[in-house]
Amino acid sequence: MTELDGEKTERRKRGPKVSVATLRRFRERGKQAVCVTAYDYPTAVFADRAGVDVILVGDSAAMTVLGLPSTIGIGMDEMLVFARAVARGVERAFVIGDLPFLSYQVSSEDAVRNASAFIQAGCDAVKLEGGLRVVDRVRAISDAGIAVMGHLGLTPQSLGQLGGYRVQGKTRAAAERILDDARALENAGAFAILLEAVPPESAAYIRDRLTIPVHGIGAGPHLDGQLVISHDLLGNFVGDIAPRFVSRLASLDATITDAFEAYAAEVRAGAFPAARHCYKLDAPGDRPLVAGQTDATPAVPTIPELSPARNNSRAVARASLRSQCLLHCSCPPFSPGSPTTSSSLFRALRSVNSSLTRRNASPRSAHACAMPMASRIRS
Ligand code: KIV
Repeated sequence: MTELDGEKTERRKRGPKVSVATLRRFRERGKQAVCVTAYDYPTAVFADRAGVDVILVGDSAAMTVLGLPSTIGIGMDEMLVFARAVARGVERAFVIGDLPFLSYQVSSEDAVRNASAFIQAGCDAVKLEGGLRVVDRVRAISDAGIAVMGHLGLTPQSLGQLGGYRVQGKTRAAAERILDDARALENAGAFAILLEAVPPESAAYIRDRLTIPVHGIGAGPHLDGQLVISHDLLGNFVGDIAPRFVSRLASLDATITDAFEAYAAEVRAGAFPAARHCYKLDAPGDRPLVAGQTDATPAVPTIPELSPARNNSRAVARASLRSQCLLHCSCPPFSPGSPTTSSSLFRALRSVNSSLTRRNASPRSAHACAMPMASRIRS
């Protein structure tokens, strides 16, 4: 199979491109669209491969990726970098670019120009926040031939007016006001509405009175699509905002921190890079290139002996051993508090590394042969 065949198979597997018409059909058939945010190429590829229907390049990138306190501080330049990266990774999903603060509020000309920039970046549609007050912008964008989604309920770009991250539409009157906004957006040409942080009853009430798809984030199950912020789902959001509607299905924060700790431990213990990480000379006779080395100098770096000066602490050794577990098998990691001695830990570490660097030793078998040693060091 050539590389091109592989690509074609992958594309067939991902299925035909999702469009506005697909999302309308989903609504007619009572099928919910699966929607997530993404801001970078790998996340977009993984989400698309997983069969996600809609990817929002949200201005939440301000908080999830840029570490800003709200979405107010992100601009078009940054959003377009994220949008291009996501569009590059997607074959099937419908990609929506989120118009950031002040990219559409000032004039319809701004709105159309900035919406067009998202389309040129590879997005299929744009989203903006607000109801009646942005109707002219929605009409202008739609008249320019660009699919536009309205965003109602909790609209983070108006946090000052809303008085914080507050649930919206909690009374019948408040739900009616959101419905008025939604109808105005629908009439102005919006292809869909996103409701954020609205009780399910209000959301269903609004959804049932519109003809376009209504998606939700924290707006209950009676809708045409469900959106989550990928960082909330994957567990790598840094910060304190954890609303009720967050569905956390992974803990990338711990996984990533553990991997960095294990790497740091390997470097500090002298276990990385080992021979298997190094390129070989063409002629082994050229080995004594480094002053003082001879043919007898071992090619595999040895693990340094314990010495406080080299920062070879017990924690370092334990973390390095743990990294071998994480990398080469699915055994439970070493428990952090197990009473082990430094020298036994380093013996085990040395055993793992020398097994891994043995010719033809597969990582799994190397680790398996180190496991008995590893279990012995738990006293
Ligand atoms: O930017 C974003 O991710 C959003 C969602 C919170 C709806 O607009």
